[in-house]
Amino acid sequence: MVFWRVKPLDKILETAEKKSLKRQLGPIQLTLLGIGAVIGTGIFVLTAEAGQKAGPGMMLAFVIAAIVCGLAALAYAELASMLPVSGSAYTYSYGVFGELVAWVVGWALGLEYGIGAAVVCVGWSGYMNGLLAANGYGLPEALRTGLYAGGSFNLLAFLIGLAVTVLLVIGTSKSARVNAVLVAIKIVALTVFIFLAVPAVKSSNFEPFLPGGWGSPLGGVGVLGAAASIFFAYVGFDAVSTAAEETKNPNRNIPIGLIGSLTVCTIFYLLVGYGAAGSVGAQPILGANGMPLDPGTPEMMAACANSQALVCSREPLAHVLRLLGYVRIGDLIGIAAILALPSVILMMMFGQTRIFFTMSRDGLLPEVLSRVHPKFFTPHVITILTGIVVSLSGALFPVGKLADTSNSGTLLAFAMVSLGVLILRKQQPDRPRPFRTPIAWFVCPLAVVGCLLLFVNLSMTAKLVFAVWAIVGLILYSTYGYKRSQLANGN
Ligand code: ALA
Repeated sequence: MVFWRVKPLDKILETAEKKSLKRQLGPIQLTLLGIGAVIGTGIFVLTAEAGQKAGPGMMLAFVIAAIVCGLAALAYAELASMLPVSGSAYTYSYGVFGELVAWVVGWALGLEYGIGAAVVCVGWSGYMNGLLAANGYGLPEALRTGLYAGGSFNLLAFLIGLAVTVLLVIGTSKSARVNAVLVAIKIVALTVFIFLAVPAVKSSNFEPFLPGGWGSPLGGVGVLGAAASIFFAYVGFDAVSTAAEETKNPNRNIPIGLIGSLTVCTIFYLLVGYGAAGSVGAQPILGANGMPLDPGTPEMMAACANSQALVCSREPLAHVLRLLGYVRIGDLIGIAAILALPSVILMMMFGQTRIFFTMSRDGLLPEVLSRVHPKFFTPHVITILTGIVVSLSGALFPVGKLADTSNSGTLLAFAMVSLGVLILRKQQPDRPRPFRTPIAWFVCPLAVVGCLLLFVNLSMTAKLVFAVWAIVGLILYSTYGYKRSQLANGN
């Protein structure tokens, strides 16, 4: 019964033809969009959070999260090459599992991209506030932190969200060009970091290696808890697939964009994680029970007052270089983050708008959301609405909680895509597959297990928000989408 209203794959391709966006992205632009979406707050900011949960064992967390993402990327590439249309996991689910599951996945992607964009707005504001304060232009504390993070209104997170919205309304190709420059800045910054930090690695900094253990059944701690959080650092490569309808020769270019961007980022992250933990140490702050304190809590904040520990820093990469004596270069890394993080916000918001654009085109969300601007050829209505929600979320909530919440939606989408590959292999074995997931019957089940493992290890708050979000989504579907669906109405 869950498998009702399955949308035939040929129909999905046909709908996309009818109301399509302009095809203007090539393989390099696409890989750059992928890297632009991936390298961001995760590595620049959440490395400290991972260290607090896992200590030097955070390096294992980077590896575990990379493996789960790599497996899912292979599954994504197969479906994206078969269905080069807007909507990513949402569209694939529609063609495999039917409308109800598609709705749940599309709704979960709202968490992934929307909340993910807000995470990066907050990360960016942290670096920017630091730079302003260092030069004597610091904002009052109340305007530096969100209402639910101990302040009032994170003004800079709000403003950067609005600025990116304007770029997206103006058009993909202009935004993609800006993105390419920012990607170059990030790559240079991480390369410099690796060259300075890795030679300073000392084996004594890896002792004890697993101060937080492997994890707990409730999640949120240890290596697995850190993996569930640092997973955010890899998220975004899947946003490449949401650009399928705007891509030239998507059957070839989408797999290149997906797997290429993830591979580049994974290599950088492993080296950065090793350099950070090994050069200055990443030992967590322990509570009275001898276990690491929960990051983002008042106890942790109190323990971090005046601490130089990596796990206390809001700008960990810059902090490591300063501790190593490279003060000016540390400042420059901070500036690189300030310049480059907006490209991540851009790509996350891009993904969000294309998902809701497609859901609207399918009749599951109001038609107005899929209107395309006559001059810029962009879905401007949904872009502006998304921009407002992202900016406000960034202005109000703390970064760590937002990141875990974003991950909950992503993990659901990844698991469904991996299952979808197997189901389609059974149902339609002869349909052309320009890219085939290698050893799919091993890779895809493993991807699902990996997603489940990380989901269980998310913080409890994120799991609860996810449950509430899912319930709200189901209510919306039963009261609106179920009746208005194009598929249900024979279109
Ligand atoms: N992976 C992206 C980041 O870390 C979302 O900011």
